[in-house]
Amino acid sequence: MNLILDLDTGIDDALAISYAASQDDANLLGITTAFGNVRVETATRNSLAMLELLGLTDVPVAQGADRPWGAEEKYVPSETLLQVHGRNGIGEVVLPEPQRMPETTNAVDFLIAKAREYGKDLTLVTAGPMTNLADAFKKDPEAISSIGKIVSMAGAVTVPGNVTRYAEANIINDAAAAKYVFESGLDITVVGLDVTLRTLLSGDDINAWKQPNSAIGNALAQMSDYYYANETDPDGNSVGGALHDPLAADIALHPETITYQVPMNLTLEVGSESNGRTIGNLNRLTDETTTAIVCTNVEAADFSRRFAAAILKLANRDQA
Ligand code: RIB
Ligand code: CA
Repeated sequence: MNLILDLDTGIDDALAISYAASQDDANLLGITTAFGNVRVETATRNSLAMLELLGLTDVPVAQGADRPWGAEEKYVPSETLLQVHGRNGIGEVVLPEPQRMPETTNAVDFLIAKAREYGKDLTLVTAGPMTNLADAFKKDPEAISSIGKIVSMAGAVTVPGNVTRYAEANIINDAAAAKYVFESGLDITVVGLDVTLRTLLSGDDINAWKQPNSAIGNALAQMSDYYYANETDPDGNSVGGALHDPLAADIALHPETITYQVPMNLTLEVGSESNGRTIGNLNRLTDETTTAIVCTNVEAADFSRRFAAAILKLANRDQA
């Protein structure tokens, strides 16, 4: 499967890159980056550094949005985010300075070019704010509409948010762009907190990645230890390391991971107490067609096991 990952590369994004790298059926065409967990420049650097760690030095990285729609200033991550993902976005793990530069093409033009080249044979996973996707659709709706499948780690339809009681991080980081995408007519599989909070890392899994004593295993274990200790809900309670972005990548590759899904037309509430809430679009309740598939249950234990095993395999391979 031809895959592009659109990321705000923090820890679970780095885990998603690693998971994609471990899957024989994934042909990673590139990574596009945006602000979110970190500034966009850091997301780009982390993506390049992760690809080098994984030996994927021919996978291009195209840098994208540095701020949400309508913002005058470049985005700066909140102190809370810097706590969850670390000040460098990857749990203070120090990876070698990347030897490669990002593409000279920006994320939007990269997405459009790949959409034109691969069309229905392209799968896009977004796991950061939807700014790059929204910009690309605005610039070339025909190309972006031709993409075979779009899977987005975004939102919280049946559970509370993780930034506020209503809003999930990838949505609230650019609510205007997300609303535009949901109302654009693009078909999107929505992998929100509804399902990602069911897929948690275990301390035993992380410890197993340390056993081969390889660069990949040690780096991913150290990042995951950090994330496991620091991811909290809006009330400050520990979440315990939800596999948000890896689950979106998995669902793109293996849709059978979904056990329950609700087709609906989504929109966002804006400007009220429930700002950023992903919810059914009242104006489109009677439409005959729906554009979003909201995942509401998954084979959580099975996925968590497969994920941990896939990373262990990478760690073992690196040692050999
Ligand atoms: O709400 C979780 C999402 O926000 C994940 O994609 C995480 O990496 C952050 O971007
Ligand atoms: Ca992310």
